Amino acid sequence: MHSELVRVSGLPLASFRREHVDQQVERACARERVSGADALARTLRSDREARRRFRRSVAISHGAMFRDPEQFKLLEEVLLPRLLAGGTRLSIWSAGCSDGAELHTLGLLVSRLGVLDRTVLLGSDLLEENLALARAGDYPAELRARMRWERRDLAADGPPPGRWRLVLCRNVAIYLTPEARQALYSTLAAALAMRGILLLGRSERLLDPASFGLRPAGPHAYQRVP
Ligand SMILES: C[S@@+](CC[C@H](N)C(=O)[O-])C[C@H]1O[C@@H](n2cnc3c(N)ncnc32)[C@H](O)[C@@H]1O
Repeated sequence: MHSELVRVSGLPLASFRREHVDQQVERACARERVSGADALARTLRSDREARRRFRRSVAISHGAMFRDPEQFKLLEEVLLPRLLAGGTRLSIWSAGCSDGAELHTLGLLVSRLGVLDRTVLLGSDLLEENLALARAGDYPAELRARMRWERRDLAADGPPPGRWRLVLCRNVAIYLTPEARQALYSTLAAALAMRGILLLGRSERLLDPASFGLRPAGPHAYQRVP
């Protein structure tokens, strides 16, 4: 699939749904005023900013504080208290963190619950340019000290070391092929601590949570079972 575009963009385009890639290629051609994938690849090779625009648009790189507020209400009122009842140390991973707004919001919730000093927060993303924005975010010093950022391709790299009590992976799976999505869900499930919770985006769900060793734990939420 668009092998020259894969080479020049450095993106694993085969992991993304074909229609999504085709649509993004079409939009990029219009944006950069070129016609066809080959011409686009030539532009991306010579123009760093055009390459950055293409990479961020294929990866759908946007986030916002408290995006989908009902999910953060569920976290604050149900899921985090449930996790804290089982132990006050939290490890939280925002998988596909984009510019860091999701992890920032989680950090604020954890602060409100009074356990920030017992929490580690990891944000990972496919794109270094998104992580640069996340690292440059304006965070309270105490929160910044608890945050780590790393590059990770969720469909290819496997989970980060450690066992995570809460994993958020929202609005990532929807853009992936069924195969890449399966690999992603295996990665997320393998990262969870026993009784740890995975929260997906509000248009994402696991069809067979048991096949990943998980059970439903709320809307778009799953818990690792012993
Ligand atoms: C729409 S944003 C979601 C941001 C945040 N999770 C939210 O819901 O607000 C999708 C993010 O997933 C990242 N992403 C896409 N494919 C990925 C992959 N294979 N591995 C890791 N991150 C990926 C993109 O770079 C982008 O930052």
